Amino acid sequence: MDFNRLASLASAHAEARAIQVALKLGIFEAIARRPLDADELAGDIGCDRRAAALIANALVALELLLKHEDRFTLSAAAQRFLIRASPQYLGGMNLFDEAIFPLWSRLEDSIRSGAPARTPDMFQQRPEETARFIRAMDSLVRARGDAVWLAENLDHSQIRALADVGGGPGTYLVELMRRRPQLRGAILDLPATLAVAREILSERAADIAPRIELIEYDYNRHEMPSGFDAVLLSNIIHSEDVQANRAMLGRCYRGLGPGGIVIIKDHIMNAALTEPAAGAIFSLYLLLTTPGRDYSFDEVAQWLREAGFGDIRCRPLPAPPFSSSIVTARKG
Ligand SMILES: C[S@@+](CC[C@H](N)C(=O)[O-])C[C@H]1O[C@@H](n2cnc3c(N)ncnc32)[C@H](O)[C@@H]1O
Repeated sequence: MDFNRLASLASAHAEARAIQVALKLGIFEAIARRPLDADELAGDIGCDRRAAALIANALVALELLLKHEDRFTLSAAAQRFLIRASPQYLGGMNLFDEAIFPLWSRLEDSIRSGAPARTPDMFQQRPEETARFIRAMDSLVRARGDAVWLAENLDHSQIRALADVGGGPGTYLVELMRRRPQLRGAILDLPATLAVAREILSERAADIAPRIELIEYDYNRHEMPSGFDAVLLSNIIHSEDVQANRAMLGRCYRGLGPGGIVIIKDHIMNAALTEPAAGAIFSLYLLLTTPGRDYSFDEVAQWLREAGFGDIRCRPLPAPPFSSSIVTARKG
C-alpha cells in the first residue's frame, strides 16, 4: 500500500462527514432547485456564509458539486444518488450513517470489552430511529441494485409463496412480485419495522402492496407460519450470534414443506474472515450495534446441514458494486 492510499483511508471520516452533513443540511436539495452561490446557499439552508462556502468547495473537491463563476450545481453523481426523488437515492443510507456516527467514537471501548456500543435493539425503541434504519436498508439496496439483481438472477420460477423473514422495507419482495404476478409474498418482521414497511410500500409500490402480507414475527422466538415454500433471509444472520442463527435455521427448516428452500443473502466470508473486505469492515459496525458479525461459507453451511438442509450452494454477486453472496439450501 502506498502513502496516498493509507493516508486517505486513515482520514476518510472527514469526507464521510462532509457528505452526511451536507445531506442533513439539505445542501443537495437546495442546489437541485437552482444554481446557487455561497451567500444564496447559506440563506437557503440557514447557515453561516463562510462555512457554507467551505463545505460547498469541499463537495466540489469530492465531485458532488460543480463550481462555475461562483455558482454551484450538482454533479451527475449527486443528481443520481443524493436527491430524494431519484430512484437510486443513497441518501437514506448516508443519513443513517450520520445518525450513528457517534457510535464509532466508542469503537475502542467495544474492542476492549467485546460489548456493543448501544443496546442491540435493531432500532425498534423509537419510531424515528426505526424509520431511519429501515429506509436506509431500502435506500442502499435500491441505489446499488441488489434486489433487481436477485430478481433477475435467482431461479425463483418454482417458488409459489415466499416468506421474507426480517424483510424490513420489502425491497426484494417488491422486485420479485413485480415479475411474478402469481407469487404470494409476506414480510415477517417486528411490529415497529412493519409500520415503516407499510408506509414505504404505500409510497412506492402501491400496486404490489395489497399482495404483500405483513406478519408480526420474532425470528428468535416464533416458529415459522406454515404455507411458504421458500424463506429469504437477507442481511439477517450477520446481526445474530452463532446460537441464534442455528436456532433460526432450525425454525426455517421446520416451517418449510419438503423441497422448500432457504435463500440467505449476506456477506459470505472466506474461511479466514478477511474477504470480502467490505464484510470484514462491516463486522466492526456489527460489533458496535449487534451480537453478530459476518460469517464464512463453512460456518453457514454447517448450520444448514445441522438444521437438516441439503443441496447447499453459494453464488457471489458480481463485485463491484456488490460484496455479498447468495447461499441456497433445500429441505429434502
Ligand atoms: C439489516 S435489516 C435487513 C432488511 C432486509 N431484509 C434487507 O436485506 O434489506 C434487518 C431486518 O431484520 C429485522 N429484525 C431484527 N430482529 C428481528 C427479529 N428478532 N425478528 C424478526 N425480524 C427482525 C429488522 O426489523 C430489519 O427489518
